[in-house]
Amino acid sequence: MGTNRTNDGFNNKVVLITGAAGGIGLASVLAFARGGATVIAMDLSGVQLSNAVAELGEIKDSVVEFVGNVTIVEDWQKVVDLAVRDYGGIDVLVNNAGIVETSSRLENFEESVFDRVMAVNVKGTFLGMKAVIPAMRKRGGGAIVNISSISGHVGNAGVHAYTASKHAVLGMTKCAAIDLALDGIRVNAVCPAPIDTPMVRGMEARVKKHNPEFDADTMMTGGIPLKRLGRAEEVAAAIAFLASSQASFITGADVPVDGGVLAT
Ligand SMILES: NC(=O)c1ccc[n+]([C@@H]2O[C@H](COP(=O)([O-])OP(=O)(O)OC[C@H]3O[C@@H](n4cnc5c(N)ncnc54)[C@H](O)[C@@H]3O)[C@@H](O)[C@H]2O)c1
Repeated sequence: MGTNRTNDGFNNKVVLITGAAGGIGLASVLAFARGGATVIAMDLSGVQLSNAVAELGEIKDSVVEFVGNVTIVEDWQKVVDLAVRDYGGIDVLVNNAGIVETSSRLENFEESVFDRVMAVNVKGTFLGMKAVIPAMRKRGGGAIVNISSISGHVGNAGVHAYTASKHAVLGMTKCAAIDLALDGIRVNAVCPAPIDTPMVRGMEARVKKHNPEFDADTMMTGGIPLKRLGRAEEVAAAIAFLASSQASFITGADVPVDGGVLAT
């Protein structure tokens, strides 16, 4: 992983990223830190977060670890207070934390699973956007990037809660973009196809228990015109672009990072 600074696009910016210990989250931490930002990296698991940040080499000096749960409003208040008190505010929020269920026929789909996925993916995103507004307004504006999915556009057999949650993320992104436009806060979403991260490898391991032949690299790429899984840094690059001043006239958009899936 190249960890040197590459540009100053985010110099003096404070960026809050959730799910920062995971694949896309950690790649985003690196992209913003390399651009000169101070990055507050938030994740549920302190051990995973410390191990992940340790991988970043010397650029980890620009990263502040915060252990918190995106479904808990008090955790949002604490992380925003920390950002304002110690770093002067928040310029960018990346609502990246997310979970996926093991697929199941609708009639067997457990209510508790539905509630858990909606809590992290939908309520977590809602609480995050709400929590950063006052701090961003004080800075004269900001940018929010929400992570949806190709599952925000199309259905998938058995993935009922995740698909509903990612459609909801796109709906919330559009509403927030309109709501916050006059505050100078832009709100956009990215829609990745399968990306090679712990989430996808975890799904692969669960499916393999019933179907030992399953191989994510061949079975999940069949519907992807570019015929490969995406890489976390390819999603992070789109997130960083949407958060940057180069995207200053883009708000309410959802950008596929999907190897062409949504074009089919
Ligand atoms: N990997 C893919 O194929 C793919 C495709 C489309 C969309 N996405 C979306 O991208 C985002 C990141 O996915 P990933 O593949 O990097 O996942 P990942 O599983 O590698 O990482 C997710 C991270 O979120 C953290 N997290 C989970 N619940 C949390 C909570 N309540 N509070 C704080 N942190 C929490 C986890 O600890 C983990 O570190 C998710 O929103 C996911 O739905 C992923």
